Amino acid sequence: MKWKKIGDILVLDKHDTNTNFQELAKEHKVKTIIKINKIRYEKREPEIKVLYGNDTETINKENKCLFKLDLSKVMWSKGNNNERIRIARLVERDETIIDMFAGIGYFSIPIGKFSEAKKIISTEINPNSFHYLKENIKLNKITNINPILGDNRDIVPNFKGDRIIMGYVKTTHHFLDVAVDSLNKNGILHYHETVPDKLIETRPIKRIREVAGDRDVELLNIQKIKRYAPGVMHVVIDAQLD
Ligand SMILES: C[S@@+](CC[C@H](N)C(=O)[O-])C[C@H]1O[C@@H](n2cnc3c(N)ncnc32)[C@H](O)[C@@H]1O
Repeated sequence: MKWKKIGDILVLDKHDTNTNFQELAKEHKVKTIIKINKIRYEKREPEIKVLYGNDTETINKENKCLFKLDLSKVMWSKGNNNERIRIARLVERDETIIDMFAGIGYFSIPIGKFSEAKKIISTEINPNSFHYLKENIKLNKITNINPILGDNRDIVPNFKGDRIIMGYVKTTHHFLDVAVDSLNKNGILHYHETVPDKLIETRPIKRIREVAGDRDVELLNIQKIKRYAPGVMHVVIDAQLD
């Protein structure tokens, strides 16, 4: 049986055949058991089936941060755990960060908690995720996050950042122009892409260079996050632009 525990909710694999949910709930000390059928595309909204209990809101603790969320409304990707803390550790004192796809604060909260960033501008288009982003800022007692609801195409051009996080997949490259325009001199982009294995070394950095125009782009790191589909990897490119 494949399962994951998010806060006090057990998420079973789509194909799980278990039926004794009461016993399962007792064994794993959870209040609710669900299956996630799919995550709808742009706003990453889940379609779930509740198998046991009824409360789908929980608080998940990860890397000493608290993330409150409702699993019937917003997603949680366990596989991005290491990336969430890796980014927080890279942030240097007094940096201004733009978190373009902030969700419930997947990156913004650890950055607020563990770095000495000056300011974190966190933009999110989905009102449900935005609600929990604000809740999580309070829950973790963070004072330097500025959460903004809306499309980052409209919001990000009003700001400049030393580090811009593009934690989104599939069409992230459509937002590269906005990110590059708002990135300060010598700023760093963390650009996520789902890319065929044989193009990992070439396609993402080529896309950044195409948008960067005259700015010099230095490839700092390629981080493999997880397998996205057969032959396709979710990667993060760290790139510095002069
Ligand atoms: C869920 S996060 C990705 C997960 C995250 N990388 C992690 O560590 O688990 C992506 C977020 O981007 C938001 N989003 C999508 N398009 C957007 C846009 N144009 N402007 C702002 N936010 C957007 C979605 O609503 C979603 O909450």
